[in-house]
Amino acid sequence: MGDVEILKELAGIAACRFIKDGMALGLGTGSTVRYSIIEIARLISEEGMDLIGVPTSEDTRSLSEELGIPLLKIEDAGTLDLTIDGADEFDCNFDLIKGGGGALTREKIVALKSKSMVVVADYTKKVEVLGAFDLPVEVDSDLWEAVREDISRICPGQVNLRMKGSKPFETDNQGFILDCRFGPTISDPKSLEIAISDTPGVIEVGLFVGICDAVIMASNDGIEELIKSEGRI
Ligand code: 5RP
Repeated sequence: MGDVEILKELAGIAACRFIKDGMALGLGTGSTVRYSIIEIARLISEEGMDLIGVPTSEDTRSLSEELGIPLLKIEDAGTLDLTIDGADEFDCNFDLIKGGGGALTREKIVALKSKSMVVVADYTKKVEVLGAFDLPVEVDSDLWEAVREDISRICPGQVNLRMKGSKPFETDNQGFILDCRFGPTISDPKSLEIAISDTPGVIEVGLFVGICDAVIMASNDGIEELIKSEGRI
């Protein structure tokens, strides 16, 4: 395991201390939260915890099924107790860029259904200003060219259609992803989220503003629990 991989594992496992018996959990997507999901399976099988999960992607669904975690569909889940998920970037206000794995729409639905959200990350995800990571925007696959033109008026850099090999990357909802190069300029993420969401053909924007309550961040100095002071945890 490389150094960053070990940090991801540490963060993923450490976040599970917020889990209590009987909870309904949002299960995020990505290589960091994967370790939380493995730990959740252990809490069920070895510690006898009664937990149920709502997966945010087909990848997370199949991993959770393999590990024996009982699952609910998004549409059948009411309010969830806690979502644990990764992020591509987080800032000091606990605002996030997500969608590097293309699961942003289901991730946002699940996070918004949750009483609280904990992000698991290694230290490389912490930024002063959001936007060094290209902002993922999920769009209608038939309309992506028109949407790209509209978003290009707002975005100072390139707006690229995400590819998988020679074909566009397709999300679990059959959408496409536009990766928007803002550079580290997103100082007002809420206004930008609204501006992009207002563009016809946009399904969801990878900005998560005011949703995350804590970040469990692993670095070579160990685990840091960053808890939002006016948050829900
Ligand atoms: C998927 C996501 C992921 O949570 C994000 O990309 C972080 O993933 P990783 O932990 O693999 O770096 O938003 O849509």
